[in-house]
Amino acid sequence: MDFKLEATAPGTAARAGLITTDHGEIRTPIFMPVGTVGSVKAVHQRELREDVKAQIILGNTYHLYLRPGIEILEKAGGLHKFNGWDRPILTDSGGFQVFSLSANRKLTEEGAWFRSHIDGSKHLFTPEKVVDIERSIGADIMMALDECPPGTAERSYARKSLDLTHRWLARGWKRYKETEGKYGYSQAYFPIVQGVTYPDLRRESAKFVADLGADGNAIGGLAVGEPAEVMYEMIEVVNDILPADRPRYLMGVGTPANILEAIDRGVDMMDCVMPTRNGRNGMLFTRHGIMNMRNRKWADDFSPLQEDGPSYVDTAYTKAYVRHLFIADEILAMQIASIHNLAFYLWLVEEARRHIMAGDFSSWKREMLECVTRRL
Ligand code: GUN
Repeated sequence: MDFKLEATAPGTAARAGLITTDHGEIRTPIFMPVGTVGSVKAVHQRELREDVKAQIILGNTYHLYLRPGIEILEKAGGLHKFNGWDRPILTDSGGFQVFSLSANRKLTEEGAWFRSHIDGSKHLFTPEKVVDIERSIGADIMMALDECPPGTAERSYARKSLDLTHRWLARGWKRYKETEGKYGYSQAYFPIVQGVTYPDLRRESAKFVADLGADGNAIGGLAVGEPAEVMYEMIEVVNDILPADRPRYLMGVGTPANILEAIDRGVDMMDCVMPTRNGRNGMLFTRHGIMNMRNRKWADDFSPLQEDGPSYVDTAYTKAYVRHLFIADEILAMQIASIHNLAFYLWLVEEARRHIMAGDFSSWKREMLECVTRRL
């Protein structure tokens, strides 16, 4: 994997760059749609390519390991072949999902024990095993196994947790270095900075992570219950230390406003379930503000979903029709909303990139922030 820094925005830490993987290029800053089980919910791969214009999608080690299982994925020749997505894929390590989804989870020095949320069966994820699984999935970017404590965790817990995450990281890194891709293309391994909301722990973690010299680095443990301002401060603290010549990935963030603020602070990659999950619940993000499509006010509004929107669905359907689909509980409502929201997120980061290149990112961001936070 290669990263080329193309421009920085004056007066900010925002950057534009180009990641090259064996499955193609990724223009940064980039938003990555979440495809947990190997599918971005309610969106076809063709729509992802042509309407959303996604350049890379996520998969989840936890989910894919439990179902369909590694044997099937290996037989298929990896996730790209299995799901028909030939552009880059990143897999999260499962650390986060073990904590948010599974029952009876328990951390030991060895790894994370958990029970499957599907059938209750018992499993152990070690840092080494997660590398092996991610090799079998065949992600272009594999994430290290970490612990992601809540944003309100006490310092003593944060301290212990960070030490364990670092020991796991050293083990996972070693396994990564000793193994290679199973399908003839290369795979990068990104370490994850933790440290809750304690600046000194964040700095220590960023140094530990930077010293590995990985192809890219991630910031985890944010947007997990701490105020947005604290999240922004942590991003600044960490990005001061993470190498500028490698992509920086902020995990699980966020709203359109969070994304603009993160880009401003030198983040290059982001992912979040928000555009798809909130979309399925009727929340549409646009450059003019946020719409709740279940609202009565759209019942007889026959104007396009978004007149100047970036995707096909924006002008193909009216607000009144999409509201009707939501009220009637039609599957198409979720499909339209997911395509619209993802296309908007991809448009937002592409615009950010364009303005970083043009040198007017700061003023554009200020204006855009006001627009995207409005309620329509
Ligand atoms: N997704 C969102 N936050 C995190 C995190 O801290 N760790 C991992 N592995 N995934 C995440």
